[in-house]
Amino acid sequence: MAVTFRPLLATLGLSALLLVPASAQALEVDKAIEYRQDALRVMAWQLGPMGDMAQGDIDYDAEAFARRASNLAAVSHLPWEGFIEGSLRNDGHGIETRALAAIGDDWADFEERQATLRQEAATLAEMAEAGEEFNALRRQVGAVVNSCRACHDNYRAD
Ligand code: HEC
Repeated sequence: MAVTFRPLLATLGLSALLLVPASAQALEVDKAIEYRQDALRVMAWQLGPMGDMAQGDIDYDAEAFARRASNLAAVSHLPWEGFIEGSLRNDGHGIETRALAAIGDDWADFEERQATLRQEAATLAEMAEAGEEFNALRRQVGAVVNSCRACHDNYRAD
């Protein structure tokens, strides 16, 4: 059994985790930071065309808008689990992140801001789904963007 066990773990990428606990933790922080940054970029990607439509940079396309709004509402739940303990700036992990230490000072407020974004994104998706007027949708895109900015202003380094 011992003969096949280790190669199997190595295949799964789990050996370091079991054999070297200290660096496994570093690996986990590394992955969590990478994960959340990827997820945040996915959100921005989905929001982008709606922002462009809202600003008149590209033509309004109701179907594309509704699809983006639905995607954004879905992905607005994703980044937050990547904010794990020890993964903020100045936590000594040496990995590049703009997540300020202030997050750790008021975790409840950080979570409230996540909830605000999820709520605004859900509202936008419902409005688009219901076929509301472009002007109303534009205003709601503004509300979503404000919820992004409000958190960045407090918790993201420039
Ligand atoms: C609850 C707080 C919060 C909210 C809400 C929030 N962000 Fe962020 N965002 C952060 C933090 C913190 C970082 C820095 C993450 C890091 O560097 O590890 C970040 C980073 C980013 C990045 C850079 C990712 C990278 O490293 O490439 C993008 C893009 C981004 N956010 C987009 C958005 C968009 C778009 C929204 C709204 C739809 C949004 N964020 C809402 C906190 C938030």
